[in-house]
Amino acid sequence: MKVALLLIFFLLKLPNQVAVIGNDEPWLNAPTPTPWPEQFHALLYMNLTTTHLQLSDVWYDWPNGRNVNIFQKQLGILLYDIEWNNGTSFYYTLGEGAYCQTVDFGVGIPRPDFLDGAHYLGQVVTDGFLCNLWEKVDFIWYYEDVVTKRPVRWDFYDGISSHVMTFEIGAVLPDSIVQAPAYCFTEAVNGKDASTY
Ligand SMILES: *[C@@H]1O[C@H](CO)[C@@H](O)[C@H](O)[C@H]1NC(C)=O
Ligand SMILES: *[C@@H]1O[C@H](CO)[C@@H](O)[C@H](O)[C@H]1NC(C)=O
Repeated sequence: MKVALLLIFFLLKLPNQVAVIGNDEPWLNAPTPTPWPEQFHALLYMNLTTTHLQLSDVWYDWPNGRNVNIFQKQLGILLYDIEWNNGTSFYYTLGEGAYCQTVDFGVGIPRPDFLDGAHYLGQVVTDGFLCNLWEKVDFIWYYEDVVTKRPVRWDFYDGISSHVMTFEIGAVLPDSIVQAPAYCFTEAVNGKDASTY
């Protein structure tokens, strides 16, 4: 999962595809994906490649330079993933058996316009919604509701699919929640478990 995330961030930062100018390219009139709002809260239903399921509470916050995912693994742990725009991500759990892992990805969070240059694939019905579908660098397939322009679903090349259950524009997670616990900062070695409480 972490390797996949790393790759995502690299690929999404690649230069946008250059459209070929001509009269017979239908995509010249194709719709473009709506940029992400600078701040939003979404609840995602995720189907992992292992076919295990999880919920993700996403708090994307571009002005504050952070993207928070709180994963509830099915009948499993609650995993915090706090990603900062300086490239550092903290993965941790709370309570008994709590642990923390710090990873430096070297790249920041996706920009609101990270879908610029995506290739339009047409309209499809997914999860019961009529959507415009785009693909970017064979890495992400992104479904947006034709009418409301809200994201409905996105799939990564490795088979992880995320289904948007709620999408709340402008919602911001309080700073107190995004502060990684103290044990993330003791004996912290990049890429290794900092602690095993
Ligand atoms: C999860 O994805 C797999 C592979 O696409 C699919 O076979 C399975 O039905 C999905 N499970 C759920 C609960 O959506
Ligand atoms: C990135 O920002 C976070 C939050 O302010 C901070 O905890 C972390 O140490 C920073 N990482 C680097 C490499 O400066």
